[in-house]
Amino acid sequence: DRGNYRHFMSKEIHEQPEVVSHTLARYLDMSTGRVTLPEGFVEQLGRVQRLSIAACGTAYLAGLVGKYWMERYARLPVDVDIASEFRYREPILGPGGLSLFISQSGETADTLSSLRYCREAEQTVASIVNVEDSTIARESDLILPTLAGPEIGVASTKAFTCQLSVLAAITIAAGRVRGVLGEEDEAKLVRALIEVPRLMTQTLRLEEQIEGIARELSRAKDALYLGRGMNYPIALEGALKLKEISYIHAEGYAAGELKHGPIALVDENMPIVVIAPSDMMFEKTVSNMQEVAARGGRIVLLTDAEGAHATGEQPFARVILPRMYQFVQPLIYALPMQLLAYHAAVSIGTDVDQPRNLAKSVTVE
Ligand code: M6R
Repeated sequence: DRGNYRHFMSKEIHEQPEVVSHTLARYLDMSTGRVTLPEGFVEQLGRVQRLSIAACGTAYLAGLVGKYWMERYARLPVDVDIASEFRYREPILGPGGLSLFISQSGETADTLSSLRYCREAEQTVASIVNVEDSTIARESDLILPTLAGPEIGVASTKAFTCQLSVLAAITIAAGRVRGVLGEEDEAKLVRALIEVPRLMTQTLRLEEQIEGIARELSRAKDALYLGRGMNYPIALEGALKLKEISYIHAEGYAAGELKHGPIALVDENMPIVVIAPSDMMFEKTVSNMQEVAARGGRIVLLTDAEGAHATGEQPFARVILPRMYQFVQPLIYALPMQLLAYHAAVSIGTDVDQPRNLAKSVTVE
């Protein structure tokens, strides 16, 4: 039931504060400020040399955020693969290893074959799934459910942010057991996560402004999305969302890669969405942004008040998000990505919930 929403996608975008809060409540103990994950799993996170993650599409991009998080906050080396690549490149997996699969449906064929490959290689198999009685869930040693509820729109939205919520919890648990995060650090990161639903609600209030920008965007033939660090996968996700439902060609790039090729594409017709919260990467990203501005690119800057202040009064569209800990940025900056794609598609008039050529769950290889 779509309720008062025009599309399931819109309903699912707006459900995020609630479902993320449910998902977090499952993995965080609000009273003690600690993460609660199955003990055997945490013990393994402390013992393994590396973690390998495989998934497809948006779930893969969640895994990529997980890599940035776990390497930074837990010093745990992580390999992330697109599942259709993972299974055929015959990855070398030592005995006693740990692998993690991420899937909303739990039925994605390539993800499932990757899982079976890992089982054969005697890895412990954990999976983050939204459908608890799915094949991937059944064939895993351990499941970490996302409590997103049924996701109907083909474009994944709330499942993505719930996957990020679970990955954030894993990151904190890994950081603790690996001796990287002390009790204080853990409590601080947990507090940051607890703030996420409220930050999401605040961010969703920017919808009208984002809708106006999306109408502009909908006239473009191509678009670029730039981000750095843990927001690089969010740029990729923004581009994927736009392609998928509005059929506008879009590419996500690590901001620093721009001058290694894609900047040649930039002219006055090229919208460039730049994710640049004020953090240690800010200045670098802004200098990449100025390179494209100098070539006439139409910039849409996503930042916070401090970032907006630092870039001064410049003639581009600017969306000012609330301030937040760097750790939770991917969870929040994902929302304007979804809203931009959604409103661009609505303004073009495509079938938002069931875009052409796509299926909600890809059960063929
Ligand atoms: O059900 P899964 O999470 O395994 O699906 C993976 C991808 O097919 C999925 O995320 C796809 O990329 C979405 N349509 C993106 O919005």
